[in-house]
Amino acid sequence: MFLSFEGIDGSGKSTQARLLADSLRAEGRDVVLTREPGGSPGAEEIRRLLVEGAGERWSPETEILLFTAARRDHLERVIRPALAAGRTVITDRFADSTRVYQGAARGELRAMVDRLHDLSIAVEPDLTLVIDIDPATALSRGRARGGNEDRFESLGLGFQQKLALGFRALANEYPDRVRLIDGSGAPETVAARVSAALPA
Ligand code: TMP
Repeated sequence: MFLSFEGIDGSGKSTQARLLADSLRAEGRDVVLTREPGGSPGAEEIRRLLVEGAGERWSPETEILLFTAARRDHLERVIRPALAAGRTVITDRFADSTRVYQGAARGELRAMVDRLHDLSIAVEPDLTLVIDIDPATALSRGRARGGNEDRFESLGLGFQQKLALGFRALANEYPDRVRLIDGSGAPETVAARVSAALPA
C-alpha cells in the first residue's frame, strides 16, 4: 500500500502522516514513513536547494526539474524497494505537490509537470489524503514553526490561497484516489477523519 499526504504549508499533514504511521505500526504493519522533497540521501541534498533561499531563486521550470529529479531518486532508492518488500509506504508529499505548486500556482506549467511525470515517475499512490485547511490559519502555524525552510511560505497568503484551491481541484480531477480531509480541530480529531477515509 502506497499512501501520500498532501496540503498547503502548515496544514498539519506531516503530523497526520506520523500519527497514521504510528497507528498502523501499532496494528503490526511494517511502515516506511518518508517525505518529499527528500526521503533518500541524494534527494535530501536536492531538498536544500529547493526549500532554502529567496522565493524567486529558481524559475518554475527549473523547480519542476529539481523536484522531479529528487522524486526519481526517492522512488528508486526508497519507495520501490519498500513496496517490493511488501511494506506500507506513507510519504509526506509526492507528485501532487508538483502538480499544484509548480503546475497550477506558479504559471501554466501543468503540461510540463505531467509529461515529465509520465516519462520519469509514472506511479501514483493508491490513496492520497489532502489535509484541507484555511490558508490564513495554516500560514500563521507555518511561520510560528520558524526555521530556514520557508522559501514557499515567504511567497505569502495569496500564494497559499491559490495552492488550497489547486489541491481541492485535484480531488475533483482524481476522485478515485484523492480524498479531501477537513484539517480543522485537534490533531487527534483530524487523525480520526484520516482513519475513516482508509479502505477497510
Ligand atoms: P514540506 O514543508 O512539506 O517539507 O515541503 C517543502 C516545500 O516544498 C513546501 O513549501 C512545498 C514545496 N514543494 C513543491 O513546491 N513542489 C513539490 O513537488 C514538493 C514535493 C514540495
